[in-house]
Amino acid sequence: MGVFDIFDNGSRSTISGISLNRIADIYGTPVIVYSARRIRDNFTRLKKAFPEASIFYSVKANDNPRIIELLGGMGSGADTASPFEISMSIFAGIDTGNMLYSPNNASLRDLEFAYDRGITINFNSFTQYSKMRGKMERISFRINPGFGLGEFGGITTGGSNTKFGLDPDSAILAYEKAREDGSSEFGIHMMIGSNNRNHLQLYEAYSSFFKVADRISKEAGVKFEFVDIGGGLGIPYSSADKDLDIASLGSMTTDEFSRHGFGHLVLEPGRYIVGDAGIIIGTVNDVHNGFVGTDIGMNINIRPALYGARHMILPLSERTEGEEMTVTGQICENTDRIGQIAYRVMEGDRLMVLCAGAYIYSMSSRYNGRPRPAEAMIMEDGTDRLIRRREDFSDFLSAVV
Ligand code: LLP
Repeated sequence: MGVFDIFDNGSRSTISGISLNRIADIYGTPVIVYSARRIRDNFTRLKKAFPEASIFYSVKANDNPRIIELLGGMGSGADTASPFEISMSIFAGIDTGNMLYSPNNASLRDLEFAYDRGITINFNSFTQYSKMRGKMERISFRINPGFGLGEFGGITTGGSNTKFGLDPDSAILAYEKAREDGSSEFGIHMMIGSNNRNHLQLYEAYSSFFKVADRISKEAGVKFEFVDIGGGLGIPYSSADKDLDIASLGSMTTDEFSRHGFGHLVLEPGRYIVGDAGIIIGTVNDVHNGFVGTDIGMNINIRPALYGARHMILPLSERTEGEEMTVTGQICENTDRIGQIAYRVMEGDRLMVLCAGAYIYSMSSRYNGRPRPAEAMIMEDGTDRLIRRREDFSDFLSAVV
């Protein structure tokens, strides 16, 4: 079943048999609706492709504790970027022994927060490590292998002119120093970019990283207990995009990995697990100057404005093809555009924005005094559950002194 079939069942949009119109009636709009079944299917497919790898769900993609909890129940760990992501993961029941902390530009306090809880840290630089020098029994550095791989420049996190990681020569010195400082367990990490759907390119990147890791291991005299290839597994955002061939990627990578003498393989996927498992439902409030004006704007989905990302947008029920129009939100900026719609719509209609499970709520804001939306989940037994209420005015005041 393709992603668009899950939510786009002819003119009756449903998840696990539940009508999305009914969900919008219950919770109002804008609301983000997730499919627990799809999250499970995505995780299961990944696990099947990489049976021997440890999977640490990257919490930055979606930090709703009910989603983290669901994944924890399937055996996932958590990859975190901040103390609050660590706290969210603990709240969701993930054991700190099953967490990674992969920050950049962390303060000593941030690092100690993770260290005190026994969480393995992927250090982004030698200077970051220096703050904790002499304390770390287990240590991992993020490597910048000299290349990046991402859908947009803004989500490419390897190669030249990025703040991420140590180049291999510096990493050799860093591991040597860590060894001299008394560290005895080592890992190595890479995260070169996000939303990649070409398995051959990903495989090539992983293979080169394994070679780099081999060289660092030999020259620094350390053995890698784990090799963490980060996240970056992509999903189709349009019906014209092809799926990532995860099964081939998994078997090719596992084969290549087994040719090196490393410990175990680690993955930190975010988008692949939750990205296509959520949609935003909104309401058309106006049609004006050729724009479809809704209650879903860049405050909820900043990806189009930030990266030029495209999300498919469909009417929730009646589908009559029409002239293509730009869908906007309620924000007072001309970048407040969330995509195109090629169906006839009128004031009062409901729309859905697909692929809104990853990097939507977690990147949303209260800009222009708009509360963050509600989040609901359709459970596998077909019941629906509110998993985060819509913010109200008390949330706006809660931090004001
Ligand atoms: N691990 C680390 C250290 C990361 O920085 C990231 C994402 C991941 C794992 C998970 O990557 P994924 O599997 O989701 O590709 N906001 C952007 C995506 C930025 C990704 C940044 N790092 C977007 O909306 O497309």
